[in-house]
Amino acid sequence: MTSLKKLAGASALAFVAAAGTAQADKLTFYCSAQEDWCQLMANSFQDATGIDVAMTRKSSGETFAQVKAESSNPKGDVWWGGTGDPHLQAAEEGLTAEYISPMRDQLHPWAIAQAESAGNRTIGIYSGALGYGYNSDLLAANNLPEPACWKDLLKPEYKGHVQMANPNSSGTAYTTLATMMQLFGEDEGFEFMKGLHKNINQYTKSGSAPIKAAGRGENTVGIVFMHDAVKQAVSGFPVKVVAPCEGTGYEIGSMSIIEGARNLEEAQKFYDWALSAEAQNLALQVNAFQVPSNKGAETSPSAPDMSQITLIDYDFKKYGSSDERKRLLKKWDDEVSTLPQ
Ligand code: F6P
Repeated sequence: MTSLKKLAGASALAFVAAAGTAQADKLTFYCSAQEDWCQLMANSFQDATGIDVAMTRKSSGETFAQVKAESSNPKGDVWWGGTGDPHLQAAEEGLTAEYISPMRDQLHPWAIAQAESAGNRTIGIYSGALGYGYNSDLLAANNLPEPACWKDLLKPEYKGHVQMANPNSSGTAYTTLATMMQLFGEDEGFEFMKGLHKNINQYTKSGSAPIKAAGRGENTVGIVFMHDAVKQAVSGFPVKVVAPCEGTGYEIGSMSIIEGARNLEEAQKFYDWALSAEAQNLALQVNAFQVPSNKGAETSPSAPDMSQITLIDYDFKKYGSSDERKRLLKKWDDEVSTLPQ
């Protein structure tokens, strides 16, 4: 009897000890969409599954650099959001893992095409068109004409009034650079970037920072995805959104599982969940006006209407390739960013 009791006591202790050391399910989540959306995705997934989520928000190019730097000892599990080009580059460089989600047939063809072009190492989660926004109060106060085209932004009167992000850190700014190559050709495209440089007051790290600054009245024109400008306008700031007259590029915001992820099962769970209409509808709670990739998810009536915008046939294969992205960024570093203003 005594020995039985002892045994029971010992095994109960062993159980407590085991429970004490048991690892809770966890997920290291790298996020490159807007901070409030990243936070909401992390919290909602945690609530839905009980998996502990550690989220870090960094811009698309920065996250790419981090995933690459960590590749011999990966720390992240899943990378959600951010422009597709660096996700495609990561796929090409083998930094992300192949995965075919059972949710895939619920997606628009453009989201699946993104996956297919990358050997299923990434997938589209939203799309959005590039453009710019301006603070209409500041524009009027400075007696500036209303811009409507990309080339309007080269006018000398806008000197010091235009802001964009640095294309090395920001996917938005890389999309801008790649868009100019496709709209005007490489020589004229670089001339455009050089002309624009004269009017730039600051290259920010994050893509949406220029339009947030415009909302606060600290900057006049911000080159951003149009949905980021709409967010400022619906938040009550005097921001007008422009779809440039020459036409424009767009992004397929993407998601990838990191090669060698320590929490692969949790990463796949997140991936499947993030492709559901229910998870994509969370965007509406934080005024994220991208077009969702799940056919059943809702697009906000405030979202820019992609069918009314002249979109270029953005060559994701070319501009998301490792060689081309590296080459263009180096050329921009060497020939544009170093010019006097
Ligand atoms: O703010 C949202 C967003 O514009 C996304 O649509 C896009 O994928 C991401 O930010 C790009 O951010 P960044 O330019 O900082 O890499």
